[in-house]
Amino acid sequence: MRTTALAALVGLMPLGAARADDVTSGLKPAEPVPVGKSLQKGDRTQIEYDKLMQWKALPSYSEPAWVTDLVTAGKLPPIKDRLPPVPLVVDTASVEGTGVYGGVLRHVSGARPQGWNWMAGNVMAWGGVEEIVDQCLVRVGPIWMLKGEKSEPLPQLAKSWEWSADGHALTMHLIEGAKWSDGQPFSADDVMFMWDDNISDPKVPAWGRPDAFGVGTTLEKVDDNTVRWHFKDAFPAATLYQMGYQKLCPGPAHILKPLHPKYNKDATYDSYINALKPEKTPWVSMGPWTVTDYKPDQIMVMRRNPYFYEVDEKGNQLPYLDEIQYKLSTWEDRTIQTVAGSADYANMEDPSIYLESLKQAQKPDFPNKIIWGARALDWKIDLNLSDVCGVNSDRDKAMRELNRNVDFRRIMTQVVDREALGQSLVRGPFITPYAGGMHQETDFGKPEMVVYYPYDIEGAKAALAKMGFKDTDGDGIVNWPAGGPLAGKNLDINLLYTTLYTTDQNIAQSLVTMFREAGVNLVLQPNSAEVLPVVQSCGWDWWLHRDDKTFQAPVLNLEQLAPVAWGAPYRHLGTSTTPQNLLPFEKDLLAIVAKVRTEPDPAKRSELFREYNKISTENIYSIGLIEVPGAIIVNKRFNNVPPGTPILSYAWGEEGSMRERFWVPTDLQGQVPELAPKTLPGIN
Ligand code: GLA
Ligand code: CA
Repeated sequence: MRTTALAALVGLMPLGAARADDVTSGLKPAEPVPVGKSLQKGDRTQIEYDKLMQWKALPSYSEPAWVTDLVTAGKLPPIKDRLPPVPLVVDTASVEGTGVYGGVLRHVSGARPQGWNWMAGNVMAWGGVEEIVDQCLVRVGPIWMLKGEKSEPLPQLAKSWEWSADGHALTMHLIEGAKWSDGQPFSADDVMFMWDDNISDPKVPAWGRPDAFGVGTTLEKVDDNTVRWHFKDAFPAATLYQMGYQKLCPGPAHILKPLHPKYNKDATYDSYINALKPEKTPWVSMGPWTVTDYKPDQIMVMRRNPYFYEVDEKGNQLPYLDEIQYKLSTWEDRTIQTVAGSADYANMEDPSIYLESLKQAQKPDFPNKIIWGARALDWKIDLNLSDVCGVNSDRDKAMRELNRNVDFRRIMTQVVDREALGQSLVRGPFITPYAGGMHQETDFGKPEMVVYYPYDIEGAKAALAKMGFKDTDGDGIVNWPAGGPLAGKNLDINLLYTTLYTTDQNIAQSLVTMFREAGVNLVLQPNSAEVLPVVQSCGWDWWLHRDDKTFQAPVLNLEQLAPVAWGAPYRHLGTSTTPQNLLPFEKDLLAIVAKVRTEPDPAKRSELFREYNKISTENIYSIGLIEVPGAIIVNKRFNNVPPGTPILSYAWGEEGSMRERFWVPTDLQGQVPELAPKTLPGIN
């Protein structure tokens, strides 16, 4: 009688009617999840942790000749004073090798920058912009290429770290003597401002909350170059993975602190969050390039950061490329332009243009390399499980209770014909059905740990009727059962999705037809801007979306796996004052996540993720739809693109490929002229 009390509350069925267990008994039982053949082939870069990056002073350093000219003209300090005394030496031997300076990388983005205050949740246009502009305590993107014993987060603004003997404290040494792109010093004050006044301030819509790093976690400043974490658990090793993009990436406190309401009585949270409009350039960053020009709906230009703290083995300051361009267009156009040679990089992630792109790739003058990755992209429907966040009416209340009913989720998942959905996007062997949870082509995606409920439209209709949902007025849509606040109304469910991606729009359309078949009316709730604020305000019933790293590299986003903090996971949010009412199986998931956090052995973590998968798919924590492989497409003029770079692993391909090492041979540089040659951010 799992759901009787609940059912009575929303009028699903009278007490004493069919037992909850009977509702789904006529549905096809779980069966093995179909597994697809991998599209990955060819070599994959492999390098030891300590070879890829090391902190080391070198006998001398170099820079582009035109930068030296600016130094000579007295516009910029010499290179040795701009670099930290001990810079980060990055390997180039595992790729094509030492590069030459110059050249441009042309990106395209389908999003738009909201502003540069990333600590306050501003989006900077995605597509690899954020991964250039934000630098974080640790770097996770290149982990995919590490081999051997040590496969863990790499240094970025934190140079090194060590655990206390009891494992409750982690001391992090920050890079010493590093500078922001405006030449101001970077220090522990930047990190503390991020933690105290952004992440820990519920009025700032930061990407992470303190509890996401383990309940009760605190951070303290030790000295100008040292911070110390304090954890309730001993040795929460996995937490280190969460200290990178995009949660622990300090912004420049010297600019932002005076704009924050805590330090400025004329400021409001609103003015702080929106203080740095995208027009405000050059923007100040610790990254390899920084934004120097922005033309709305046209282009963003980034130029090399003369204070960037990385060098190659010979002491050449990175990056090699002087300029990055971001044309502002659509995501689909990114692939189209890259395939045609008018842009240089795309994540091929829109199945509806795969076949055409592959046809172009057959042509002898095709300008790009294509590197296929695992089925790392998934689309799913999340059902809003929160009964405390954004519940503003009887309807919201009834809808959330329905979403929280496992029988209902089971019926809904069996309405979806995943094979047909996949084939409608692209015919052929690309797409496989997805049950939700961990991706199959990972260490932890074992088919036997997936509970997959197959398509069964007849069974679903019958089961819905058993729950009391019948079409009493003959318009083809089932009506809510008698007794509840929505009695007699049609079952209309809002489906939130983004219109920025063609794939999401196509899937939404197919779902309307499929659910209509079961008598469920999906009311499309298209969103043409950033969808996350809507998600976070809980103003939705169901949310169709592509998932980023969470189910490909779950250790990065533990808070998205179960309600560890009020601000996550998106499918089940609390509020800053009211925690989530956990569903019974969520307690089991939380226990698993807690074990993952303190498990240092990646193999054992994988085992825990498999257990997680079993429970979450059995309980239909999301309605998984499809798993899709993607490829990165990069123009052939670039050297140092690591073979095997995945479209999405610990990060998207833009960051996994380490763009600061890309270079273009001198004789090819003229093919794409720089828009702002020989200029540096803020130097005239
Ligand atoms: C968007 C794109 C992805 C990738 C990421 C990087 O989500 O769709 O392909 O470029 O941005 O943040
Ligand atoms: Ca009806």
